[in-house]
Amino acid sequence: MNKSIRCLILSITTKISLSGSESGGAHQFDMKKYDIPDITIAIDGYSSTGKSSFAKLIASELSFLYLDSGALYRAVTLYAMENGLISDDNKIDLQALAAALNTLDVHFENTAGGIRTYIGKRCVEKEIRSLKVSGKVSPVSAVPEVREYVNAKLREFGRGGRVVMDGRDIGTTVFPNAELKIFMTADPLVRAKRRAAEMEAKGEKVNISDVLENLKERDYIDSHRAVSPLSKAPDAIELDNSEMTLEGQMEWVKNVLSKKFGVNGL
Ligand code: DC
Repeated sequence: MNKSIRCLILSITTKISLSGSESGGAHQFDMKKYDIPDITIAIDGYSSTGKSSFAKLIASELSFLYLDSGALYRAVTLYAMENGLISDDNKIDLQALAAALNTLDVHFENTAGGIRTYIGKRCVEKEIRSLKVSGKVSPVSAVPEVREYVNAKLREFGRGGRVVMDGRDIGTTVFPNAELKIFMTADPLVRAKRRAAEMEAKGEKVNISDVLENLKERDYIDSHRAVSPLSKAPDAIELDNSEMTLEGQMEWVKNVLSKKFGVNGL
């Protein structure tokens, strides 16, 4: 790994553990609520299947660190959009983007409101969730240099386990040895409605058919790209949550954890 990227990652690790213990990395949450081994939980699946809500809740229940890999791809996309590195018809200036990654400071900060995504000193948590960014994130995340950049950060953050990470290739590429891999699916219309409700709650005006179109397009690009396409790891457990509540999903995962790792009292 290039030295400057490594330094950047180390500074990022410090930023993410600002309000935690001094050891940094994934170990800032010392309270072990349950007697559970230091495992890595990888949650992959289609867009808007509720991966992040599920992953956040699991992390909070187990006192694990939650990391949203899509947020890093979204932040790199926002940077590319704001710096003229991607055109209206999604043509990417590959050379300029690859060069920018050498100094780009995308990181997470652990704030009172939860973990937030930053570019340098600027919190971009809201902007990266817009439909504009969603429309460009798949082509940007298909660029091999972007994937390398994001994966290096994720591996550093996830070093040592006790982490729940969600994305598209966590169980296949980023952490192929993750002890628990979950692959999430749901009916596309159910997913579009969930995404639209989420965006409306944040004050963004949306049209359900635009959201559905964007989801389908992203599903296609994410599953067909040359590098690290979205696919279910052979050892992942599939969860179709079209008709499940978040509570129902928690019951499901607690059952899996107690059977697989003998965790009691969940
Ligand atoms: O999870 P999300 O919708 O916020 O992810 C945004 C995009 O990032 C998604 O369309 C594909 C890409 N992504 C990826 O390629 N690999 C990941 N591990 C996570 C996200």
